Amino acid sequence: MHVSRREFLCAGALTTAAWPLAATLAQAGTGKGFHLRPAGGTVRFFGEDGPKTEVWCYNGLVPGPEIRARQGTRIDVAVENALDQDTTVHWHGLRIPHAMDGVPDLTQPPIASGTTFSYGFDLPDAGTFWYHPHVRGSEQQGRGLSGALIVEEPEPPRVDRDILWVIDDWRLTENGAIIENFGNPMDLSHAGRLGNVATLNGLDSQAFTVRAGERLRLRLVNVANARIFAFEFEGHRPYVVALDGQPVSPHEPPTGKVVLAPGARADLIVDMQGDPGSRHAVTDDFFPRQSYRYLELRYLDQSPVRESPPDWHITLPPNPLPEPVLAEAETHDIILSGGAMGGLTGAIFDGESLPIGTLARRGKVWAINGIVAHRTDMDPLLVFQLGRTQRIRLRNDTAFPHPMHLHGHSFRLLSQNGQGVPHQPFLDTVLLNPDDVAELAFVADNPGDWLFHCHVLEHMEAGMSAVLRVA
Ligand code: C2O
Ligand code: CU
Repeated sequence: MHVSRREFLCAGALTTAAWPLAATLAQAGTGKGFHLRPAGGTVRFFGEDGPKTEVWCYNGLVPGPEIRARQGTRIDVAVENALDQDTTVHWHGLRIPHAMDGVPDLTQPPIASGTTFSYGFDLPDAGTFWYHPHVRGSEQQGRGLSGALIVEEPEPPRVDRDILWVIDDWRLTENGAIIENFGNPMDLSHAGRLGNVATLNGLDSQAFTVRAGERLRLRLVNVANARIFAFEFEGHRPYVVALDGQPVSPHEPPTGKVVLAPGARADLIVDMQGDPGSRHAVTDDFFPRQSYRYLELRYLDQSPVRESPPDWHITLPPNPLPEPVLAEAETHDIILSGGAMGGLTGAIFDGESLPIGTLARRGKVWAINGIVAHRTDMDPLLVFQLGRTQRIRLRNDTAFPHPMHLHGHSFRLLSQNGQGVPHQPFLDTVLLNPDDVAELAFVADNPGDWLFHCHVLEHMEAGMSAVLRVA
């Protein structure tokens, strides 16, 4: 295996870190044990000679330690809160019992500073998932608290390297310090906290070293507060094999771009077909006028590992997801409104109908079906019959994109803007651009009160959140 500059720096940072790595607790009779310790820490996004940044992170690492286990096994994770405020850990995309979902007040009391909470659950689905706090998300996640959780297939498709790309952006001063304006009115009411430095696995993204002829599985996880990425791999043809952890028929992304909203994941299989010594840009052009080179793929000057792509299959084995039965579905409409230029005049807040000016002064500017979230354990917006298929028509009546995330379930994306969606992937987060309408369907098979919210964390905190009850 060849070591790129980036990987070298990563490894160096790990060995010199003053914090323990995820320790295996080795409890007899249970699954794999992990320890997460959210606390203050220091990283260097620009390498060993660059400035230091004070962050909040798990076990001293940005991103947090990779949690990895086999499908069907149990993991136990002790979370020791060394922050000076409450926290929780949410296991994004995992279909696990309500009590383990990590939403303060709704599924558990918050983990107070100085205390430990132990999560434990079986892993139903193989795939690429992640974890993050669900308390003061804009700040806690924005300061660095997040990490990947990978559930391995019993028989993964063959590749030369299985690689995790945790993608993030940061709002930093010239000296590398985090700009502390979390939750300012501009971010809340517009596109959220967009950063000015994009990172790959906690380092200023510059180069990724590859070898001609090798086949990679790239697991992309967008942990940014608000930035949507649309990656174009110059000179390469990535195949999408999973979205949000769930297998999908392998296909090239329709527009050639891998679009990744906050919270979303994509598993790609890419044959590195460039020439030895060549360089290729990975460009993010979600905002076409602000397109930039996110990364450069740098080929080692070595003979190809093989002459043509291998004929190994790339289809992932299916996960045990219940198939929605549309003929028996309960149907619902959900409408997103509010925000700057959204034309919202007022909404319900804590049972009271308030004009937008009053709401805005309280930092609440987004609504779901005319209701602004005032806490996590609200009365349910909708109640779903346990075991029944739910079909939801979701409309974005605002001037901004919203990646809408459902806890506890994965849903099929049936259509977008009246057009059938190819492959109807199972997702846990669906991106709606302004004026989009999306139709989703899923079996409400996981009992409890589940959060449904925008994963632009500033939008969630400014009211774009609701509770959906499965009972
Ligand atoms: Cu990734 Cu409610 O969260
Ligand atoms: Cu949003």
